[in-house]
Amino acid sequence: MTWLITGGAGYIGAHVVRAMTGAGERTVVYDDLSTGDAGRVPREVPLVVGSVLDGGRLARAIAAHQVTGVVHLAAKKQVGESVGRPLHYYHENVEGLRVLLEAVTAAPVTAFVFSSSAAVYGMPDVDVVTEETPCRPLSPYGETKLAGEWLVRAAGRAAGLATASLRYFNVAGAATPALADTGVSNLVPMVFHRLTEGTAPRVFGDDYPTADGTCVRDYIHVVDLAEAHVTVARALRSTPGLDLTLNVGRGEGVSVREMIDRINAVTGYDHPPTIAPRRPGDPARVVASADRIATELGWRAAHDVQDMITSAWEGWVRLHPAAARA
Ligand code: WQD
Repeated sequence: MTWLITGGAGYIGAHVVRAMTGAGERTVVYDDLSTGDAGRVPREVPLVVGSVLDGGRLARAIAAHQVTGVVHLAAKKQVGESVGRPLHYYHENVEGLRVLLEAVTAAPVTAFVFSSSAAVYGMPDVDVVTEETPCRPLSPYGETKLAGEWLVRAAGRAAGLATASLRYFNVAGAATPALADTGVSNLVPMVFHRLTEGTAPRVFGDDYPTADGTCVRDYIHVVDLAEAHVTVARALRSTPGLDLTLNVGRGEGVSVREMIDRINAVTGYDHPPTIAPRRPGDPARVVASADRIATELGWRAAHDVQDMITSAWEGWVRLHPAAARA
């Protein structure tokens, strides 16, 4: 079976390619390189440069490489940007997926894994979010992911595809420094950035109804997340018609303040945070129940927050050598 990994030159996608090839699966990367980096794609893995909005190119890539499974990660993922550019997000994430599904359902593809997000839940008023918790996305980004789940399920049912939507929680860390996230739009790299430029990391709000007043999230190592894709891909291959919706988190809530303390300890910087105003739209607490994926597929995360921060820091120092402390 050959798997087409859309977005395979991106941060998470490159980890998925690494995990799939490491597990002996044949892969082909399809990426428009708008934010991806061809250097992340292993030399032995074919790279097709193209957009998921280009149905002709997709169909040719699927036929040329005899693709029978797809892992779809190519998408826009900035929550804030999606509020200002909703049509762009719907076009790239929903129309792009629809075009991809047209090509997939016209070909002998039997399995489809969709990269969804905890953003589909919005502001859940429960301690632990299960897959049954109602989805009320708060941003166009989250809406496109929820609509994507619907598209994938409907197209899968109609065409007899086995499908899975994986709701990623807060992803951090790297398998190797070269595969680290180069973006600075999430907590860990944002704190690295502030520390290395000599400014205090910011806590966006310390008056939330949580133990220390700061927001609580469920952080997951990108290596674990990538392994979850391998587990899910294999389940789809062995069970035709399977239709899965799964949280991919660890079930452990960690506060912003705890994360910043741990980052200070790992990096050797000792810069206490300043308290900034709340960031609009931030839920106080979003923590996964990771039970369903464990019970149904036997997958569990192996890495903790310390591993995430340490590996992310190695990647940061590779890009910003002056950040290293003796
Ligand atoms: C985590 C917490 C911030 C930076 C988003 C999307 C989600 C997924 C991952 C894409 C929040 C706080 C942050 C800082 C801070 N995206 N923070 N100081 O918002 O939980 O999730 O990214 O697929 O869908 O919603 O992640 O890393 O931005 O923030 O206090 O300098 O850290 O307010 O509470 P978030 P994040």
